Amino acid sequence: MERRTFLKMAGVGLTTLAAGNAVPGVSHAAKEDIGEIRSLKVTVLSETSWFNNDIFKKNMMDGGGAMGNQYDTAWDRDNSGGYSALLEIEQLDGKKKKILMDTGWNNDWMDYVYKMHGIDQMLRKKEIDTMVLSHWHLDHFWGIESTLKHNPNITLYAPSTHYPEDIKLLKGGSFEKAGCKNSVPHKGQLVECTPDKVVKLMPGAAVKMFDVPIILRVRGESVLYFHIKDKGIVTVTGCCHPGILTLYSFARNNFAKGDEVYGSYGGLHISLFETWDPKYDDIIKGLKTFKPGKFACNHCTGWIFAEKAAAAGLPVVKGTDKYKSYKKYSTVAKATNVYLTNGDTVTF
Ligand SMILES: [Fe+2]
Ligand SMILES: [Fe+2]
Repeated sequence: MERRTFLKMAGVGLTTLAAGNAVPGVSHAAKEDIGEIRSLKVTVLSETSWFNNDIFKKNMMDGGGAMGNQYDTAWDRDNSGGYSALLEIEQLDGKKKKILMDTGWNNDWMDYVYKMHGIDQMLRKKEIDTMVLSHWHLDHFWGIESTLKHNPNITLYAPSTHYPEDIKLLKGGSFEKAGCKNSVPHKGQLVECTPDKVVKLMPGAAVKMFDVPIILRVRGESVLYFHIKDKGIVTVTGCCHPGILTLYSFARNNFAKGDEVYGSYGGLHISLFETWDPKYDDIIKGLKTFKPGKFACNHCTGWIFAEKAAAAGLPVVKGTDKYKSYKKYSTVAKATNVYLTNGDTVTF
């Protein structure tokens, strides 16, 4: 680059920074007040999307790798489980509301999990009339029949960035090679979450979609934000593909009192296959600057990350051995119980 060009660019940068309005991703508009709730209880219905990492990885590589299309891959059915959580919200006026987050992958597994926790009855009685789909990944969405067969009219909040195959499955369709099917068409409202706005579910609870590219040809992830009275912001995620620091920064920059982070629940997509990268140490350092009070993680976070985060002083919420009462469990589950895993609960 010529010196003159460089100086010109640097000059522009300095001018705009001085004006205070050119920092990417930082909004200087009035911060949004999403309201408050009294409490949030999360029950881990299933966070074991698959049981053996090696089998999942082999299926993925045989099917075209991480950049392949999830619907064009032959997945080992016996290795599939699913991700799903029950969210119980107590509002400031004492009213209670139940929301289902995600619907897992393997229908047999999800039917088993729903029965174990009475989710089937909650859906039938319309105690659960709302589901938030975090993203269109197989392990969060392909178990949709297990939900729809009990309540086809459920209101579904989902990222607007779906592909035709996603809608085909939602409306009742099957994909033989991938091994997924849904015989109960969704008849309720589909609320499409777009990246340009925050969708409020009720005072103190909102959905924000982040338009990010994700592996296996999936795009966009919705995140649930709660503001717990006198405690602060809690994020609830499926995989957290946008990155947990991005989520906390978004709250700080855009929500009233958004700098008061109370905690997190869910997958964080860090050391997915239990490998380590030095940048994960920096994620831990970054998280500590937000001073969360309760940090509950599982799924694609990586046990190794959760262990290191706990050792570094993050308030990792320990799980129990309840997961052993499920008929199957993950090969990477460890006695350290740093995951909030199947059957565990956390209250914020
Ligand atoms: Fe996932
Ligand atoms: Fe995912």
